[in-house]
Amino acid sequence: MKKLNIGMVGYGFMGRAHANAFRKVGNFFNLDYQPVLKAACGRDAAKAKEFAAQWGFESIETDWRMLIARDDIDVIDIAAPNDVHAPIAIAAAKAGKMVLCEKPLALNAAEALKMVAAVEKAKVPNMVWYNYRRVPAVMLAKQLIDEGKLGRIFHYRAKFLQDWTISSDLPQGGAGLWRLDAKVAGSGVTGDLLAHCIDTALWLNGPMDKVTATTETFIKERKHNLTGKVEAVSIDDASLFLARFANGSLANFEATRYARGHKALYTFEINGEHASISWDLHDLHRLQYFEHRDEGRVRGWRSIHVTDSDHPYMDKWWVPGLQIGYEHSFVHQVADFIQGLQSGTPAAPTFRDGLATDYVTDAVLKSARSGRWETVKR
Ligand SMILES: NC(=O)c1ccc[n+]([C@@H]2O[C@H](COP(=O)([O-])OP(=O)(O)OC[C@H]3O[C@@H](n4cnc5c(N)ncnc54)[C@H](O)[C@@H]3O)[C@@H](O)[C@H]2O)c1
Repeated sequence: MKKLNIGMVGYGFMGRAHANAFRKVGNFFNLDYQPVLKAACGRDAAKAKEFAAQWGFESIETDWRMLIARDDIDVIDIAAPNDVHAPIAIAAAKAGKMVLCEKPLALNAAEALKMVAAVEKAKVPNMVWYNYRRVPAVMLAKQLIDEGKLGRIFHYRAKFLQDWTISSDLPQGGAGLWRLDAKVAGSGVTGDLLAHCIDTALWLNGPMDKVTATTETFIKERKHNLTGKVEAVSIDDASLFLARFANGSLANFEATRYARGHKALYTFEINGEHASISWDLHDLHRLQYFEHRDEGRVRGWRSIHVTDSDHPYMDKWWVPGLQIGYEHSFVHQVADFIQGLQSGTPAAPTFRDGLATDYVTDAVLKSARSGRWETVKR
């Protein structure tokens, strides 16, 4: 089996999710490549060492430039905050490394475009970690749509609700709270949460033509952890938009960190001529499906427990009826990336696909400022 030497930047939430996926993938999928955890990179040597020991990385680096300079690294995996995605990815591509990058691809579409240019010029395999595509129930939704089971699509509805920033005592910036600082995050919930909803929507329902949006920053000032001063909050706390898709369907999207009681409620519903589907991250192994062409007396919403061996990815796991969870979506994404290397057909979403989401988030933020419908670039 060929080795795929991984150099990973960032050892936080996503660092753990990715490391777990690289470790497990070869146990459950028959692949020609085996990921090897060569080096974990973070700025704090003691923390990086601790992380490397816990997850089985062979070595550490404290500067991503040194990681990229190493000859024994094949893949640079970016699991660090959004402001470092572009410099790391561009340098990695120039050095001829494969690049995996967390979402959103960049702080904005202009930066994302440079990343796309870099990986395409260097002809290096690349992928963005929009992992929800790899939840079996979401992949099943994709299959049903592509088979035409829904018929013409009329509506797409998505939301991503959290409640962790409601307290005005919560500071902004620095470790753990970089999401509240637009310099590091690019935007607030638009790039953080809506980006997931948009990626899934573009994949399931095709391109978007235009959007009209409104955003709000409910708490205007917070103490900044890096300066110690109370500073203006630069992110959107909530973001809502309407969209028109190229296929003629209408959509509404909502994301907020002020929906008391909701922790990570990502849901979507799609209504077609013949059928509807809906999905809920809090119940991620189920797909709700309504088929109008069923016999009238038994017609109703089905709750499909997506655990059978003919469901996407599920033949690789346990026995029918036993469900899997969040972390498995990352294992599936690594498996698909490797299968893409084997077949020569790159696994989506590539950087170019990630750029499409950044074009939408840019249009959403532009519309929130202008108060007008804005065209989505493609
Ligand atoms: N796919 C998903 O579902 C999902 C979920 C959460 C986060 N994310 C994305 O993953 C990325 C990381 O988010 P997180 O939640 O893991 O953040 P985190 O704060 O938990 O971890 C970030 C890590 O990056 C490190 N880091 C920061 N700057 C660095 C630098 N210059 N060089 C090296 N390391 C650096 C930090 O020390 C930390 O280890 C973000 O882009 C985020 O949007 C994606």
